[in-house]
Amino acid sequence: MTNKMWGGRFQSGPDAIMEEINASIGFDKRLFRQDIAGSKAHAAMLAKQGIIPKSDAALIRKGLEQVQAEIEAGAFTFSRALEDIHLNVESRLKDIIGPAAGRLHTARSRNDQVALDFRLYVRDTVDHLDAQLKELQLALAGKAEQHAATVMPGFTHLQVAQPVTFGHHLLAYVEMLARDRSRLADARKRMNENPLGAAALAGTSFPIDRHMTAEALGFDRPTRNSLDTVADRDFVLETLSACAICSMHLSRLAEEIVIWSTSQFRFVKLSDKFTTGSSIMPQKRNPDAAELVRAKPGRIIGALLSLLTVMKGLPLTYSKDMQEDKEPAFDAFDNMSLAIAATTGMVKDMVPNRDEMRKAAASGFSTATDLADWLVRTLKMPFREAHHVTGSLVALAEAKGCDLPELPLSAMQSVEKRITKEVYKVLTVENSVASRVSFGGTSPTNVKREAKRWLKLLKG
Ligand code: ARG
Repeated sequence: MTNKMWGGRFQSGPDAIMEEINASIGFDKRLFRQDIAGSKAHAAMLAKQGIIPKSDAALIRKGLEQVQAEIEAGAFTFSRALEDIHLNVESRLKDIIGPAAGRLHTARSRNDQVALDFRLYVRDTVDHLDAQLKELQLALAGKAEQHAATVMPGFTHLQVAQPVTFGHHLLAYVEMLARDRSRLADARKRMNENPLGAAALAGTSFPIDRHMTAEALGFDRPTRNSLDTVADRDFVLETLSACAICSMHLSRLAEEIVIWSTSQFRFVKLSDKFTTGSSIMPQKRNPDAAELVRAKPGRIIGALLSLLTVMKGLPLTYSKDMQEDKEPAFDAFDNMSLAIAATTGMVKDMVPNRDEMRKAAASGFSTATDLADWLVRTLKMPFREAHHVTGSLVALAEAKGCDLPELPLSAMQSVEKRITKEVYKVLTVENSVASRVSFGGTSPTNVKREAKRWLKLLKG
């Protein structure tokens, strides 16, 4: 049998393999809401412009509502012979309302239709991810406020560097997520133009009103070039790229959670809800959720590269290659959403271990910079010299097997005789973090203020 939607010039139907490679209904059925919303707006516009009878438009609207209800109820039979969601919906509409359904596709092509459906879908996705990211920011900022003064080691090269506060560390992720959200918002702004009415590629001879459909579908304006409109997928690429960066951020936090929850670190305890046991080792508590969040960039960055590779070198305008845009993107968006939700759950539930964190913060001569700064401030020593003197003091402490605060004054003075007992004040981790009052620094007062500012901003 030839295709009933376009089989006029065909004598035979497609080979089974052709049908299999050509069909997208298996994955694009998830666009049904967007497809139906677009068709309703299109039909209303056609009637208003006198292109189709108002009575037919009314029938089309009612019929589309029935199709949507059937799909939502799981009572719709999707047909692979009908290729994709657009033809499946239209064909069912014809069963329901008869020949009037044939008027819906006036001044429209599947090329602008799919560009529309996918844009609406990606726009919804951006809104959903944004709301989820905000929740995660709230969870992080809430924990940060509670732990504005909880001292932990700050690392560079994963070596203890200087004491910081746990709250400060968590707020670092709040900042990253804010930029992720603003990248998504940028993508949304650029994508929010109405593709409907570009038709196959050249526009149409019918007196359509693209501003009307733009308004009905929540777009800022119609797109300005019909060729660009059906050929472009950079709205998906931009969103994927924002997701790739965001998933990389979450992956870093996930890796930290994995490290923090080891028995070597013991910085945080994860809840039972976000860990798993081992089938053989009864003592185990594995941070599976964190590990999976750590892994998600694999497929999300993969989706970005996959679509970039599909699109590169394609001549204008539409080519069927572009049907390969959806599966990786859907997978990436689903997994992005899952990663954010899992991270939010872990962050909300995790309990930091103040004692372990403090102990670790005091290890590894973490206040050596404070000592050097003291030499600069009190003895007016040039920083480079102070660095050198401190290096010798660290070596001395290391040789004695003690930490800097335990190094006797006499030992200190053997290296630099002007050192007084005042120096010990700057060697505690609490005083160290308290002294970091520079804008953006880790002092508990700064962190408390920042956490409050974020919470107000996010709740407001
Ligand atoms: N299923 C197609 C896609 O996802 C819809 C557009 C088909 N257009 C065409 N001219 N065959 O890209």
